[in-house]
Amino acid sequence: MLDGVPPIFVALDVDSALRATELAARLLGHVGGIKIGSTLFTAEGPSLVRRLVEEGHRVFLDLKFHDIPHQVAGAVASATTLGVWMMTVHASGGSEMLTAARRAAAETAAKRNAPPPLIIAVTALTSLSEETLAEIGVNRSMERHVAELAALAEKTGLDGVVASPWELRTLRQRFPNLTIVTPGIRDASAPPDDQSRTMSAREALAAGATYLVVGRPIVAASDPRGAAEAIARSCA
Ligand code: C5P
Repeated sequence: MLDGVPPIFVALDVDSALRATELAARLLGHVGGIKIGSTLFTAEGPSLVRRLVEEGHRVFLDLKFHDIPHQVAGAVASATTLGVWMMTVHASGGSEMLTAARRAAAETAAKRNAPPPLIIAVTALTSLSEETLAEIGVNRSMERHVAELAALAEKTGLDGVVASPWELRTLRQRFPNLTIVTPGIRDASAPPDDQSRTMSAREALAAGATYLVVGRPIVAASDPRGAAEAIARSCA
């Protein structure tokens, strides 16, 4: 639970600020927070993030920063100033970039007298296959690649990692103290879509997820709040 609500972040994968703010308002107090990804952010920008934070939403900014350390530090500092609660960076940016991200979050938050946002590392995107890894010169198994990048995130003091339901148990066993954020949440009765390695919310929490990311099962429902409440009940 996250302040008495289920630890679910709803992926606001919509393309307008109007739709995003309407949905977020309907869900406030019924989910842990909202996730803003690059589609919505690129369409509507930081003013939308600022507004949602001001309206009391816990915002997970999922922009997966990956750049030279100086640039990532600047992006993390800007996101911290917006008041986001959690954000993502790519673990493959390396230890210097990850350390710069963590330091920027801590220093910027201290200036605002606020707790630092959680910095979560993306290990390998779930859209990558072992063939894609080989294509970019990574010649180790996906499992090993993900575990090594999670170890790097932990060593550099990041708060956690994103992990698909597929990787969850292994990562939780090996990294008992990391925050694990898990997308790909589907009820067993859900119609098939492009998420293949899915788990129900209840199973994912039991397997060690700290926070869940749920998009379409809530956002595309005719009653988003009802759908969020049903998922919350299923985990209780
Ligand atoms: O609609 P759905 O529940 O599939 O949305 C899941 C959200 O989590 C989307 O915003 C998607 O981009 C994100 N995500 C994912 N798989 C990852 C990382 C993020 O589905 N490995």
